[in-house]
Amino acid sequence: MIITPLSEALGAEVRGIDLRRFGDDDLEEIKAAFLKFQMLCFRDQELSPREQLEFSAGFGEIESRPDRPFTFPGIPEVSILSNRVHKGQPVGVINAGDFWHSDLSFGVKPCRATFLYALEVAKDGGDTEWSNMYAALDRLPLSLRSRIEGLHGIHVFDRRRNPRAEVDRQFKKNAENVYGVSIADAVHPIVRTHPETGRKALYISPRFVVGIEGLPDDEGQKLLDELFEFQIKPEFRYRHKWRGGDLVMWDNPCLIHIGRGKIKPPGIRHMHRTMVLGEKPY
Ligand SMILES: [Fe+2]
Repeated sequence: MIITPLSEALGAEVRGIDLRRFGDDDLEEIKAAFLKFQMLCFRDQELSPREQLEFSAGFGEIESRPDRPFTFPGIPEVSILSNRVHKGQPVGVINAGDFWHSDLSFGVKPCRATFLYALEVAKDGGDTEWSNMYAALDRLPLSLRSRIEGLHGIHVFDRRRNPRAEVDRQFKKNAENVYGVSIADAVHPIVRTHPETGRKALYISPRFVVGIEGLPDDEGQKLLDELFEFQIKPEFRYRHKWRGGDLVMWDNPCLIHIGRGKIKPPGIRHMHRTMVLGEKPY
């Protein structure tokens, strides 16, 4: 394997491996690189949904939600992210991840790693960007750092309860079906310890965190605004221009990410996503 950093902030490109055929030694090497770079991009892959699932399963318990819209026929663990429209109907989630977030942070056991495989990419638009929450916490001004120690963020799935995140255009008409599903709010430490590296990271995002437990709302919102602004400083970030065949995996406990959208017609971006669950944040 040839592993080359993609930016100063995070991420590495991996060449010289076919993810349809990986051995235990490969997996060990990948896991070490994953902890080091937080995001890995394997170029030129040819993966069926089953093969993607098999690779993902090497990193933890596969996540699946039977009521999730747009999953691969017969394989509910694989989600379809796509702007393709077939006979007037979208075939996938069009604007996935349009606000900064860490995947499934509204869960009791949020997502550990996300795997996104690009079957088709558009010439313009559809980039994904990540921001490094180890770095954000490390460089947080001491005055701000001392205020968040021991505090917990309230993570909420329903966009209608988050004034910072509007309801997705695609789901406006059936918002109740999409966001009204019974998912309890989760409360997680704002300073999170990564389960494998032991490093501390800032664990909040404007998409899912709507308040701080135990603080009066005006005080909590002011603190959140300061943190949300700080956590996306340009020096923490890497923006990925996708190529067809990219399989990108990222470490959700220490990164936030955003889909940059703006795909220019007739460009088509079509992707398969799998996720593995982690542990309750501490
Ligand atoms: Fe996401």
